Amino acid sequence: MSSSRYLLAAVLCAFVLQGSVTQAQLSSNFYDETCPNASSIIQGVLVQAFQSDPRIGASLIRLHFHDCFVQGCDASILLDSTDTIVSEKGAGGNSNSARGFNVVDQMKAALETACPGIVSCADILTIAAEQSVALSGGPSWTNLLGRRDSTTANITLANENLPAPTLTLEELKQKFINVGLNGDTDLVSLSGGHTFGRSQCQFFIQRLYNFNGTNQPDPTLDTTFLQALQALCPQGGNGSVLTNLDVSTPDTFDNNYFTNLQEKKGLLQTDQELFSTAGADTVDIVNLYGSNQTAFFERFVVSMIRMGNLSVLTGSEGEIRLNCSRVNGISSLSSDDDLVSSF
Ligand code: HEM
Ligand SMILES: *[C@@H]1O[C@H](CO)[C@@H](O)[C@H](O)[C@H]1NC(C)=O
Ligand SMILES: *[C@@H]1O[C@H](CO)[C@@H](O)[C@H](O)[C@H]1NC(C)=O
Ligand SMILES: *[C@@H]1O[C@H](CO)[C@@H](O)[C@H](O)[C@H]1NC(C)=O
Ligand SMILES: *[C@@H]1O[C@H](CO)[C@@H](O)[C@H](O)[C@H]1NC(C)=O
Ligand SMILES: *[C@@H]1O[C@H](CO)[C@@H](O)[C@H](O)[C@H]1NC(C)=O
Ligand SMILES: *[C@@H]1O[C@H](CO)[C@@H](O)[C@H](O)[C@H]1NC(C)=O
Ligand SMILES: *[C@@H]1O[C@H](CO)[C@@H](O)[C@H](O)[C@H]1NC(C)=O
Repeated sequence: MSSSRYLLAAVLCAFVLQGSVTQAQLSSNFYDETCPNASSIIQGVLVQAFQSDPRIGASLIRLHFHDCFVQGCDASILLDSTDTIVSEKGAGGNSNSARGFNVVDQMKAALETACPGIVSCADILTIAAEQSVALSGGPSWTNLLGRRDSTTANITLANENLPAPTLTLEELKQKFINVGLNGDTDLVSLSGGHTFGRSQCQFFIQRLYNFNGTNQPDPTLDTTFLQALQALCPQGGNGSVLTNLDVSTPDTFDNNYFTNLQEKKGLLQTDQELFSTAGADTVDIVNLYGSNQTAFFERFVVSMIRMGNLSVLTGSEGEIRLNCSRVNGISSLSSDDDLVSSF
């Protein structure tokens, strides 16, 4: 074989090999031709929802997080149970806790009217998360889009992957590493999502009376803050009572989550551990973000994009769901209903 033909063969071979391993990437202009108003349509619904529910932005970014940590950002969290699907909504981290599903449905309905069958439910969660941060005073950024929706859910994986608020720092780091994020900057930056939204007493009450079997409160909890929390969450009381994750600026996306940690006023055990675990590599990051909001915002954006890129379905994988709560082509029980609502 002449050297030029040999070279050509090598180039072709490399091309074919690369083609077989290259996954379609997300892109910033994915809907520019097919649904140019997607972002503003989602924003319209979100702004409306904020008016009656100041917590909705927090709830929506959490849905995106709980989606991405379970078989990737594929909207698996939105599927309801059927004969073949066990909904992730019943998993420990989601049950009686995850919320905002009705607002996602409103966004989807508005998008189906404007551009039928185009915008995935997984991308809706991504865009809604970014806009929720921006509308609450945080950074805005360019969303990478083109995710497709799963045809499956996995409650086992949801129970396994979603971090519980009583984990040790080591366990918490491992949950992030398991999905492909890191246990230092990604963990600390994304934990900054607790700069807004609420938690129920049941998720931190173990810190207030009998921490880790000591019969004492968590020593890393500020005394005045402890007393306020004990008054709100009495032993044997209603575990569903809500309080703010960020005690100083509850609905604003800022760096006060980190200054709270510096003052021993983190609400969840997993929040405070980032700062109070002796010798941990997370302490310096908390201090950096606590003293420099710009540094937090910049790194938060990077970590959100990294999280939003976890195991995404692209190209012809999965589908574009027409109803975020169910896989396409599955009819509902009533046959009358099918005519109008089973796509
Ligand atoms: C690091 C591990 C994490 C743990 C252990 C954790 C745990 C929790 C818990 C227990 C709640 C309260 C839920 C309830 O009371 O129903 C909560 C709420 C929340 N989480 Fe996390 N979370 C973690 C990471 C994240 C991340 C990475 C984000 C987003 C980037 C996030 C965003 C939120 C938001 C915004 C809320 C408030 C939701 C609302 O008000 O509806 N969390 N989290
Ligand atoms: C996009 O929205 C703008 C106003 O919000 C409207 O004028 C325009 O017609 C919309 N374009 C499409 C393609 O729907
Ligand atoms: C769910 O995930 C678990 C753990 O990775 C796996 O063993 C199981 O096969 C998955 N189940 C379904 C229904 O995909
Ligand atoms: C709780 O106690 C166990 C056993 O003494 C210890 O290994 C663990 O680190 C403690 N957890 C926390 C968060 O202090
Ligand atoms: C517990 O608190 C929640 C939230 O405030 C409230 O909706 C619920 O009705 C309360 N349940 C009981 C039994 O008081
Ligand atoms: C804060 O962080 C930003 C972004 O990393 C950096 O450009 C700036 O110099 C920092 N400001 C201070 C006062 O350190
Ligand atoms: C997203 O993930 C893919 C596949 O792992 C990777 O090639 C790509 O660089 C990632 N993109 C971003 C923006 O992180
Ligand atoms: C979407 O699917 C869910 C679950 O099957 C169903 O309850 C709901 O009515 C459907 N929504 C629409 C608009 O058809």
